[in-house]
Amino acid sequence: MVDRIMPEPFRIKMVEPVSVPDKEQREEALKRGHYNMFGLRSKDIYIDLLTDSGTGAMSKYQWAALMMGDEAYAGADSFFSLKASVKEILGFDYVIPAHQGRAAENVVFGTLVKKGDVIPFNMPFDTTRAHIFNNGGEPVDCVIDEAFQPEVAHPFKGNMDITKLEKAIETYGKERIPLVMTTITNNSGGGQPVSLENLRETSKVCKKYGIPFYLDCARMAENAYFIKMREPACAKMSVAEILKECMNTADGITVSCKKDPLVNIGGMVCCRTEETYMTLLPRVILFEGFATYGGLAGRDLEALALGLREMVDEQYMAHRIAQVKYLGDLLAEGGVPYVTPAGGHAIFIDAAAFLPHIPQSAYPADVLGIEIYREGAIRGIGLGALAFATEDEKTGKIIYPKLELYRLAINRRTYTNSHMEFIAQSIIDVYKRRESIRYGLRETYVPPVKGIKHFLAHLEPYSL
Ligand code: F0G
Repeated sequence: MVDRIMPEPFRIKMVEPVSVPDKEQREEALKRGHYNMFGLRSKDIYIDLLTDSGTGAMSKYQWAALMMGDEAYAGADSFFSLKASVKEILGFDYVIPAHQGRAAENVVFGTLVKKGDVIPFNMPFDTTRAHIFNNGGEPVDCVIDEAFQPEVAHPFKGNMDITKLEKAIETYGKERIPLVMTTITNNSGGGQPVSLENLRETSKVCKKYGIPFYLDCARMAENAYFIKMREPACAKMSVAEILKECMNTADGITVSCKKDPLVNIGGMVCCRTEETYMTLLPRVILFEGFATYGGLAGRDLEALALGLREMVDEQYMAHRIAQVKYLGDLLAEGGVPYVTPAGGHAIFIDAAAFLPHIPQSAYPADVLGIEIYREGAIRGIGLGALAFATEDEKTGKIIYPKLELYRLAINRRTYTNSHMEFIAQSIIDVYKRRESIRYGLRETYVPPVKGIKHFLAHLEPYSL
């Protein structure tokens, strides 16, 4: 039984027309895009769930705030609006704007990581992983084992395994570990949350060894909402209070503000001490812009200052999480396997279980993407072997990721509950004909930079 769904807690003031391409146009688009979802054009798509990044709808307050943008190169008022908002919502004294999340990662990893370093993580997102590699470091995944068991229910599947973390620190030695990082929520592992208790434990271990603890906070408000719902000790706290407590565990954070902070572009690094701030600043100037705008316009900083406040609105967040779960419940009714419980920003279909007859080397998640697009002109993203397989440097053997997922990321305040019903029906229709899907994909072009293959690869189908 699917629960009754809470209606949208907003009304629509402006509409963005979309069209539905017919079957022939979809085939053309697939060919033109080299069978890679990143190769499709927006006009080829009816419902676009490629990402929840930068695709949300701003509020009327944010649109109005754009006019308050102060475009001064240095010391703009808009920077100070952002600084005040960061202090109020997140509690950090220092903020460095950046144009998006990976730019914030470039500032932190580019400054702190050197060749041979390792970064213990619950699980890094793909751009984060790529930044660590490109600075000569290596991430060590320390997430709990349940993260790799899509069918197992666990309230905090994003948690760091504290034993694995301590083992990593003992194995590599703290000299090789410039920071430890936790992603909240754990995007690569299914948008799964991390408990406040786990953040506190990780922080304690880091303090014990004198290693800075950072959070990747793209989806920090969703994480706080899950804590409120699932961590009994926090049930009576507000989402805003929980978020502050989570932040209190960290020395610094990187944020892609294109997610929970509700802006179409933006990122930032926040930290506690002047010393860290001054260490990180030179790289911002090199790659982003002056310290008070970091690659953003003053108007973007104003919209972000408000987005940070809006993301902790509990009615908004209750609807958001319920909407994602609604899609999950509808899919479950049709038997479609996905990572349970439903994540905060997305449903992650278990492509390995959906298409068990397609070997991982033939990229089942990406085959599924093509079929879902064919069915409903819906776009998601494959997060499996194409995105995460690596090559053992010594043996040349391909190491496949443990999960083969297809993500449907739900844009914030953008699609309605009836869109969720259409998506579920389309995917259930693909599920019914899954046995007849008998092809794999191979690359005809691979970019020369490690860690970003799935964004740019050209693919072609072959029969199995
Ligand atoms: N960290 C996490 C957890 C992310 O999910 C992302 C981006 C980034 C960092 C990088 O931020 O895109 O602003 O440079 N995730 C997007 C996604 C792209 O589709 O999940 P960015």
